[in-house]
Amino acid sequence: ESYDMGGHDTYMHKEISEQADAVDRVLRGRIDDRFSTVHLGGLNLDAREARGVRRIKILGCGTSYHAGLIGAGLIESLARIPADAEPASEFRYRNPVVDPDTLYIAVSQSGETYDVLAAVQELKRKGARVLGVVNVVGSAIARETDGGVYVHAGPEVCVVSTKCFTNTVVSFALLALHLGRIRDLSVADGKRIIAGLRRLPAQIEEILGTEDEIKKVAEEYANAKSMMFIGRVRGYPVALEASLKLKEISYIHAEAYPASELKHGPLALIEPALPTVAIVPDDDLLEKNRAALEEIKARSGRILAVAHQEQPKADQTIVVPKNETELDPILMGIPLQLLAYHTALALGRDIDKPRNLAKSVTVE
Ligand code: AGP
Repeated sequence: ESYDMGGHDTYMHKEISEQADAVDRVLRGRIDDRFSTVHLGGLNLDAREARGVRRIKILGCGTSYHAGLIGAGLIESLARIPADAEPASEFRYRNPVVDPDTLYIAVSQSGETYDVLAAVQELKRKGARVLGVVNVVGSAIARETDGGVYVHAGPEVCVVSTKCFTNTVVSFALLALHLGRIRDLSVADGKRIIAGLRRLPAQIEEILGTEDEIKKVAEEYANAKSMMFIGRVRGYPVALEASLKLKEISYIHAEAYPASELKHGPLALIEPALPTVAIVPDDDLLEKNRAALEEIKARSGRILAVAHQEQPKADQTIVVPKNETELDPILMGIPLQLLAYHTALALGRDIDKPRNLAKSVTVE
């Protein structure tokens, strides 16, 4: 991959299109079928140390923070280690309790984001072990951390992150699988996740093949003044990221809420002029998610569902291929990148260089 536009009109489109190859690259050479696990060469955390980890705290900003939220979910479900993610910018200002049994993970595409770097430096000063999940090799955060996982997304030029987000989540899946297999994840579950990871590139191509359909949907929603994004548990960070992407490049106001929180306030906003994008995977929460769609429909809200099957209550459904439940968020984010892209295109925005934003924020 290079800095050449390769026939695309924007870097964002090029980078969205590169995701199958990027995922293939982050997996390459890391899977160990003999033990149904993965090898992460630069992790610098042996099995005994990994078993001693009591808690994981993930720190990042913007899109990287959202990838960290999905990562925390993957770590909890596959490795059964309590994990959460927090914006690095908030963490560093609240004089956090630094616990010696917690493993800290800094996430960054550029590896240069000042808030993340400052959080890492504060943690290191207090004796914490900090790993990095970073794209740019040799960057400040990669150098400052004790070890970590390179994301191998290749160069990302567009200010908004797409392929790096996807590869960061896949990197977290690898880390979660690695930690899980050192702890209590069975060989059978290890095999199941590895098979799921290997299916991702072809499934990403399948989603990218539906771009024309997503473009039509985007053109229908481009005149909205505001949009709501909802999801539950694994789907909520997908909703957060999709709403950020839409705001960044189309300048349409967007909110993301857990679907379960609708009735605690945001339901008051629902009316025909406020479309909702709902993440509705076929998992144990399907019926709960469908109930939320009914609530929205009862208030005449328009619904675009991203789901594994047509949703009867939705006005439109973008159907994505099913993978293992834990890995579904990786695929569900991709059509929403295209939705943001085509919305911004329909509105004539400067997609690669949205107003007021920089690719990496290296100042306070
Ligand atoms: C991504 O679309 C944004 N431009 C922004 O939120 C970004 O993710 C954030 O500034 C963090 O950057 P980093 O991943 O390079 O640390």
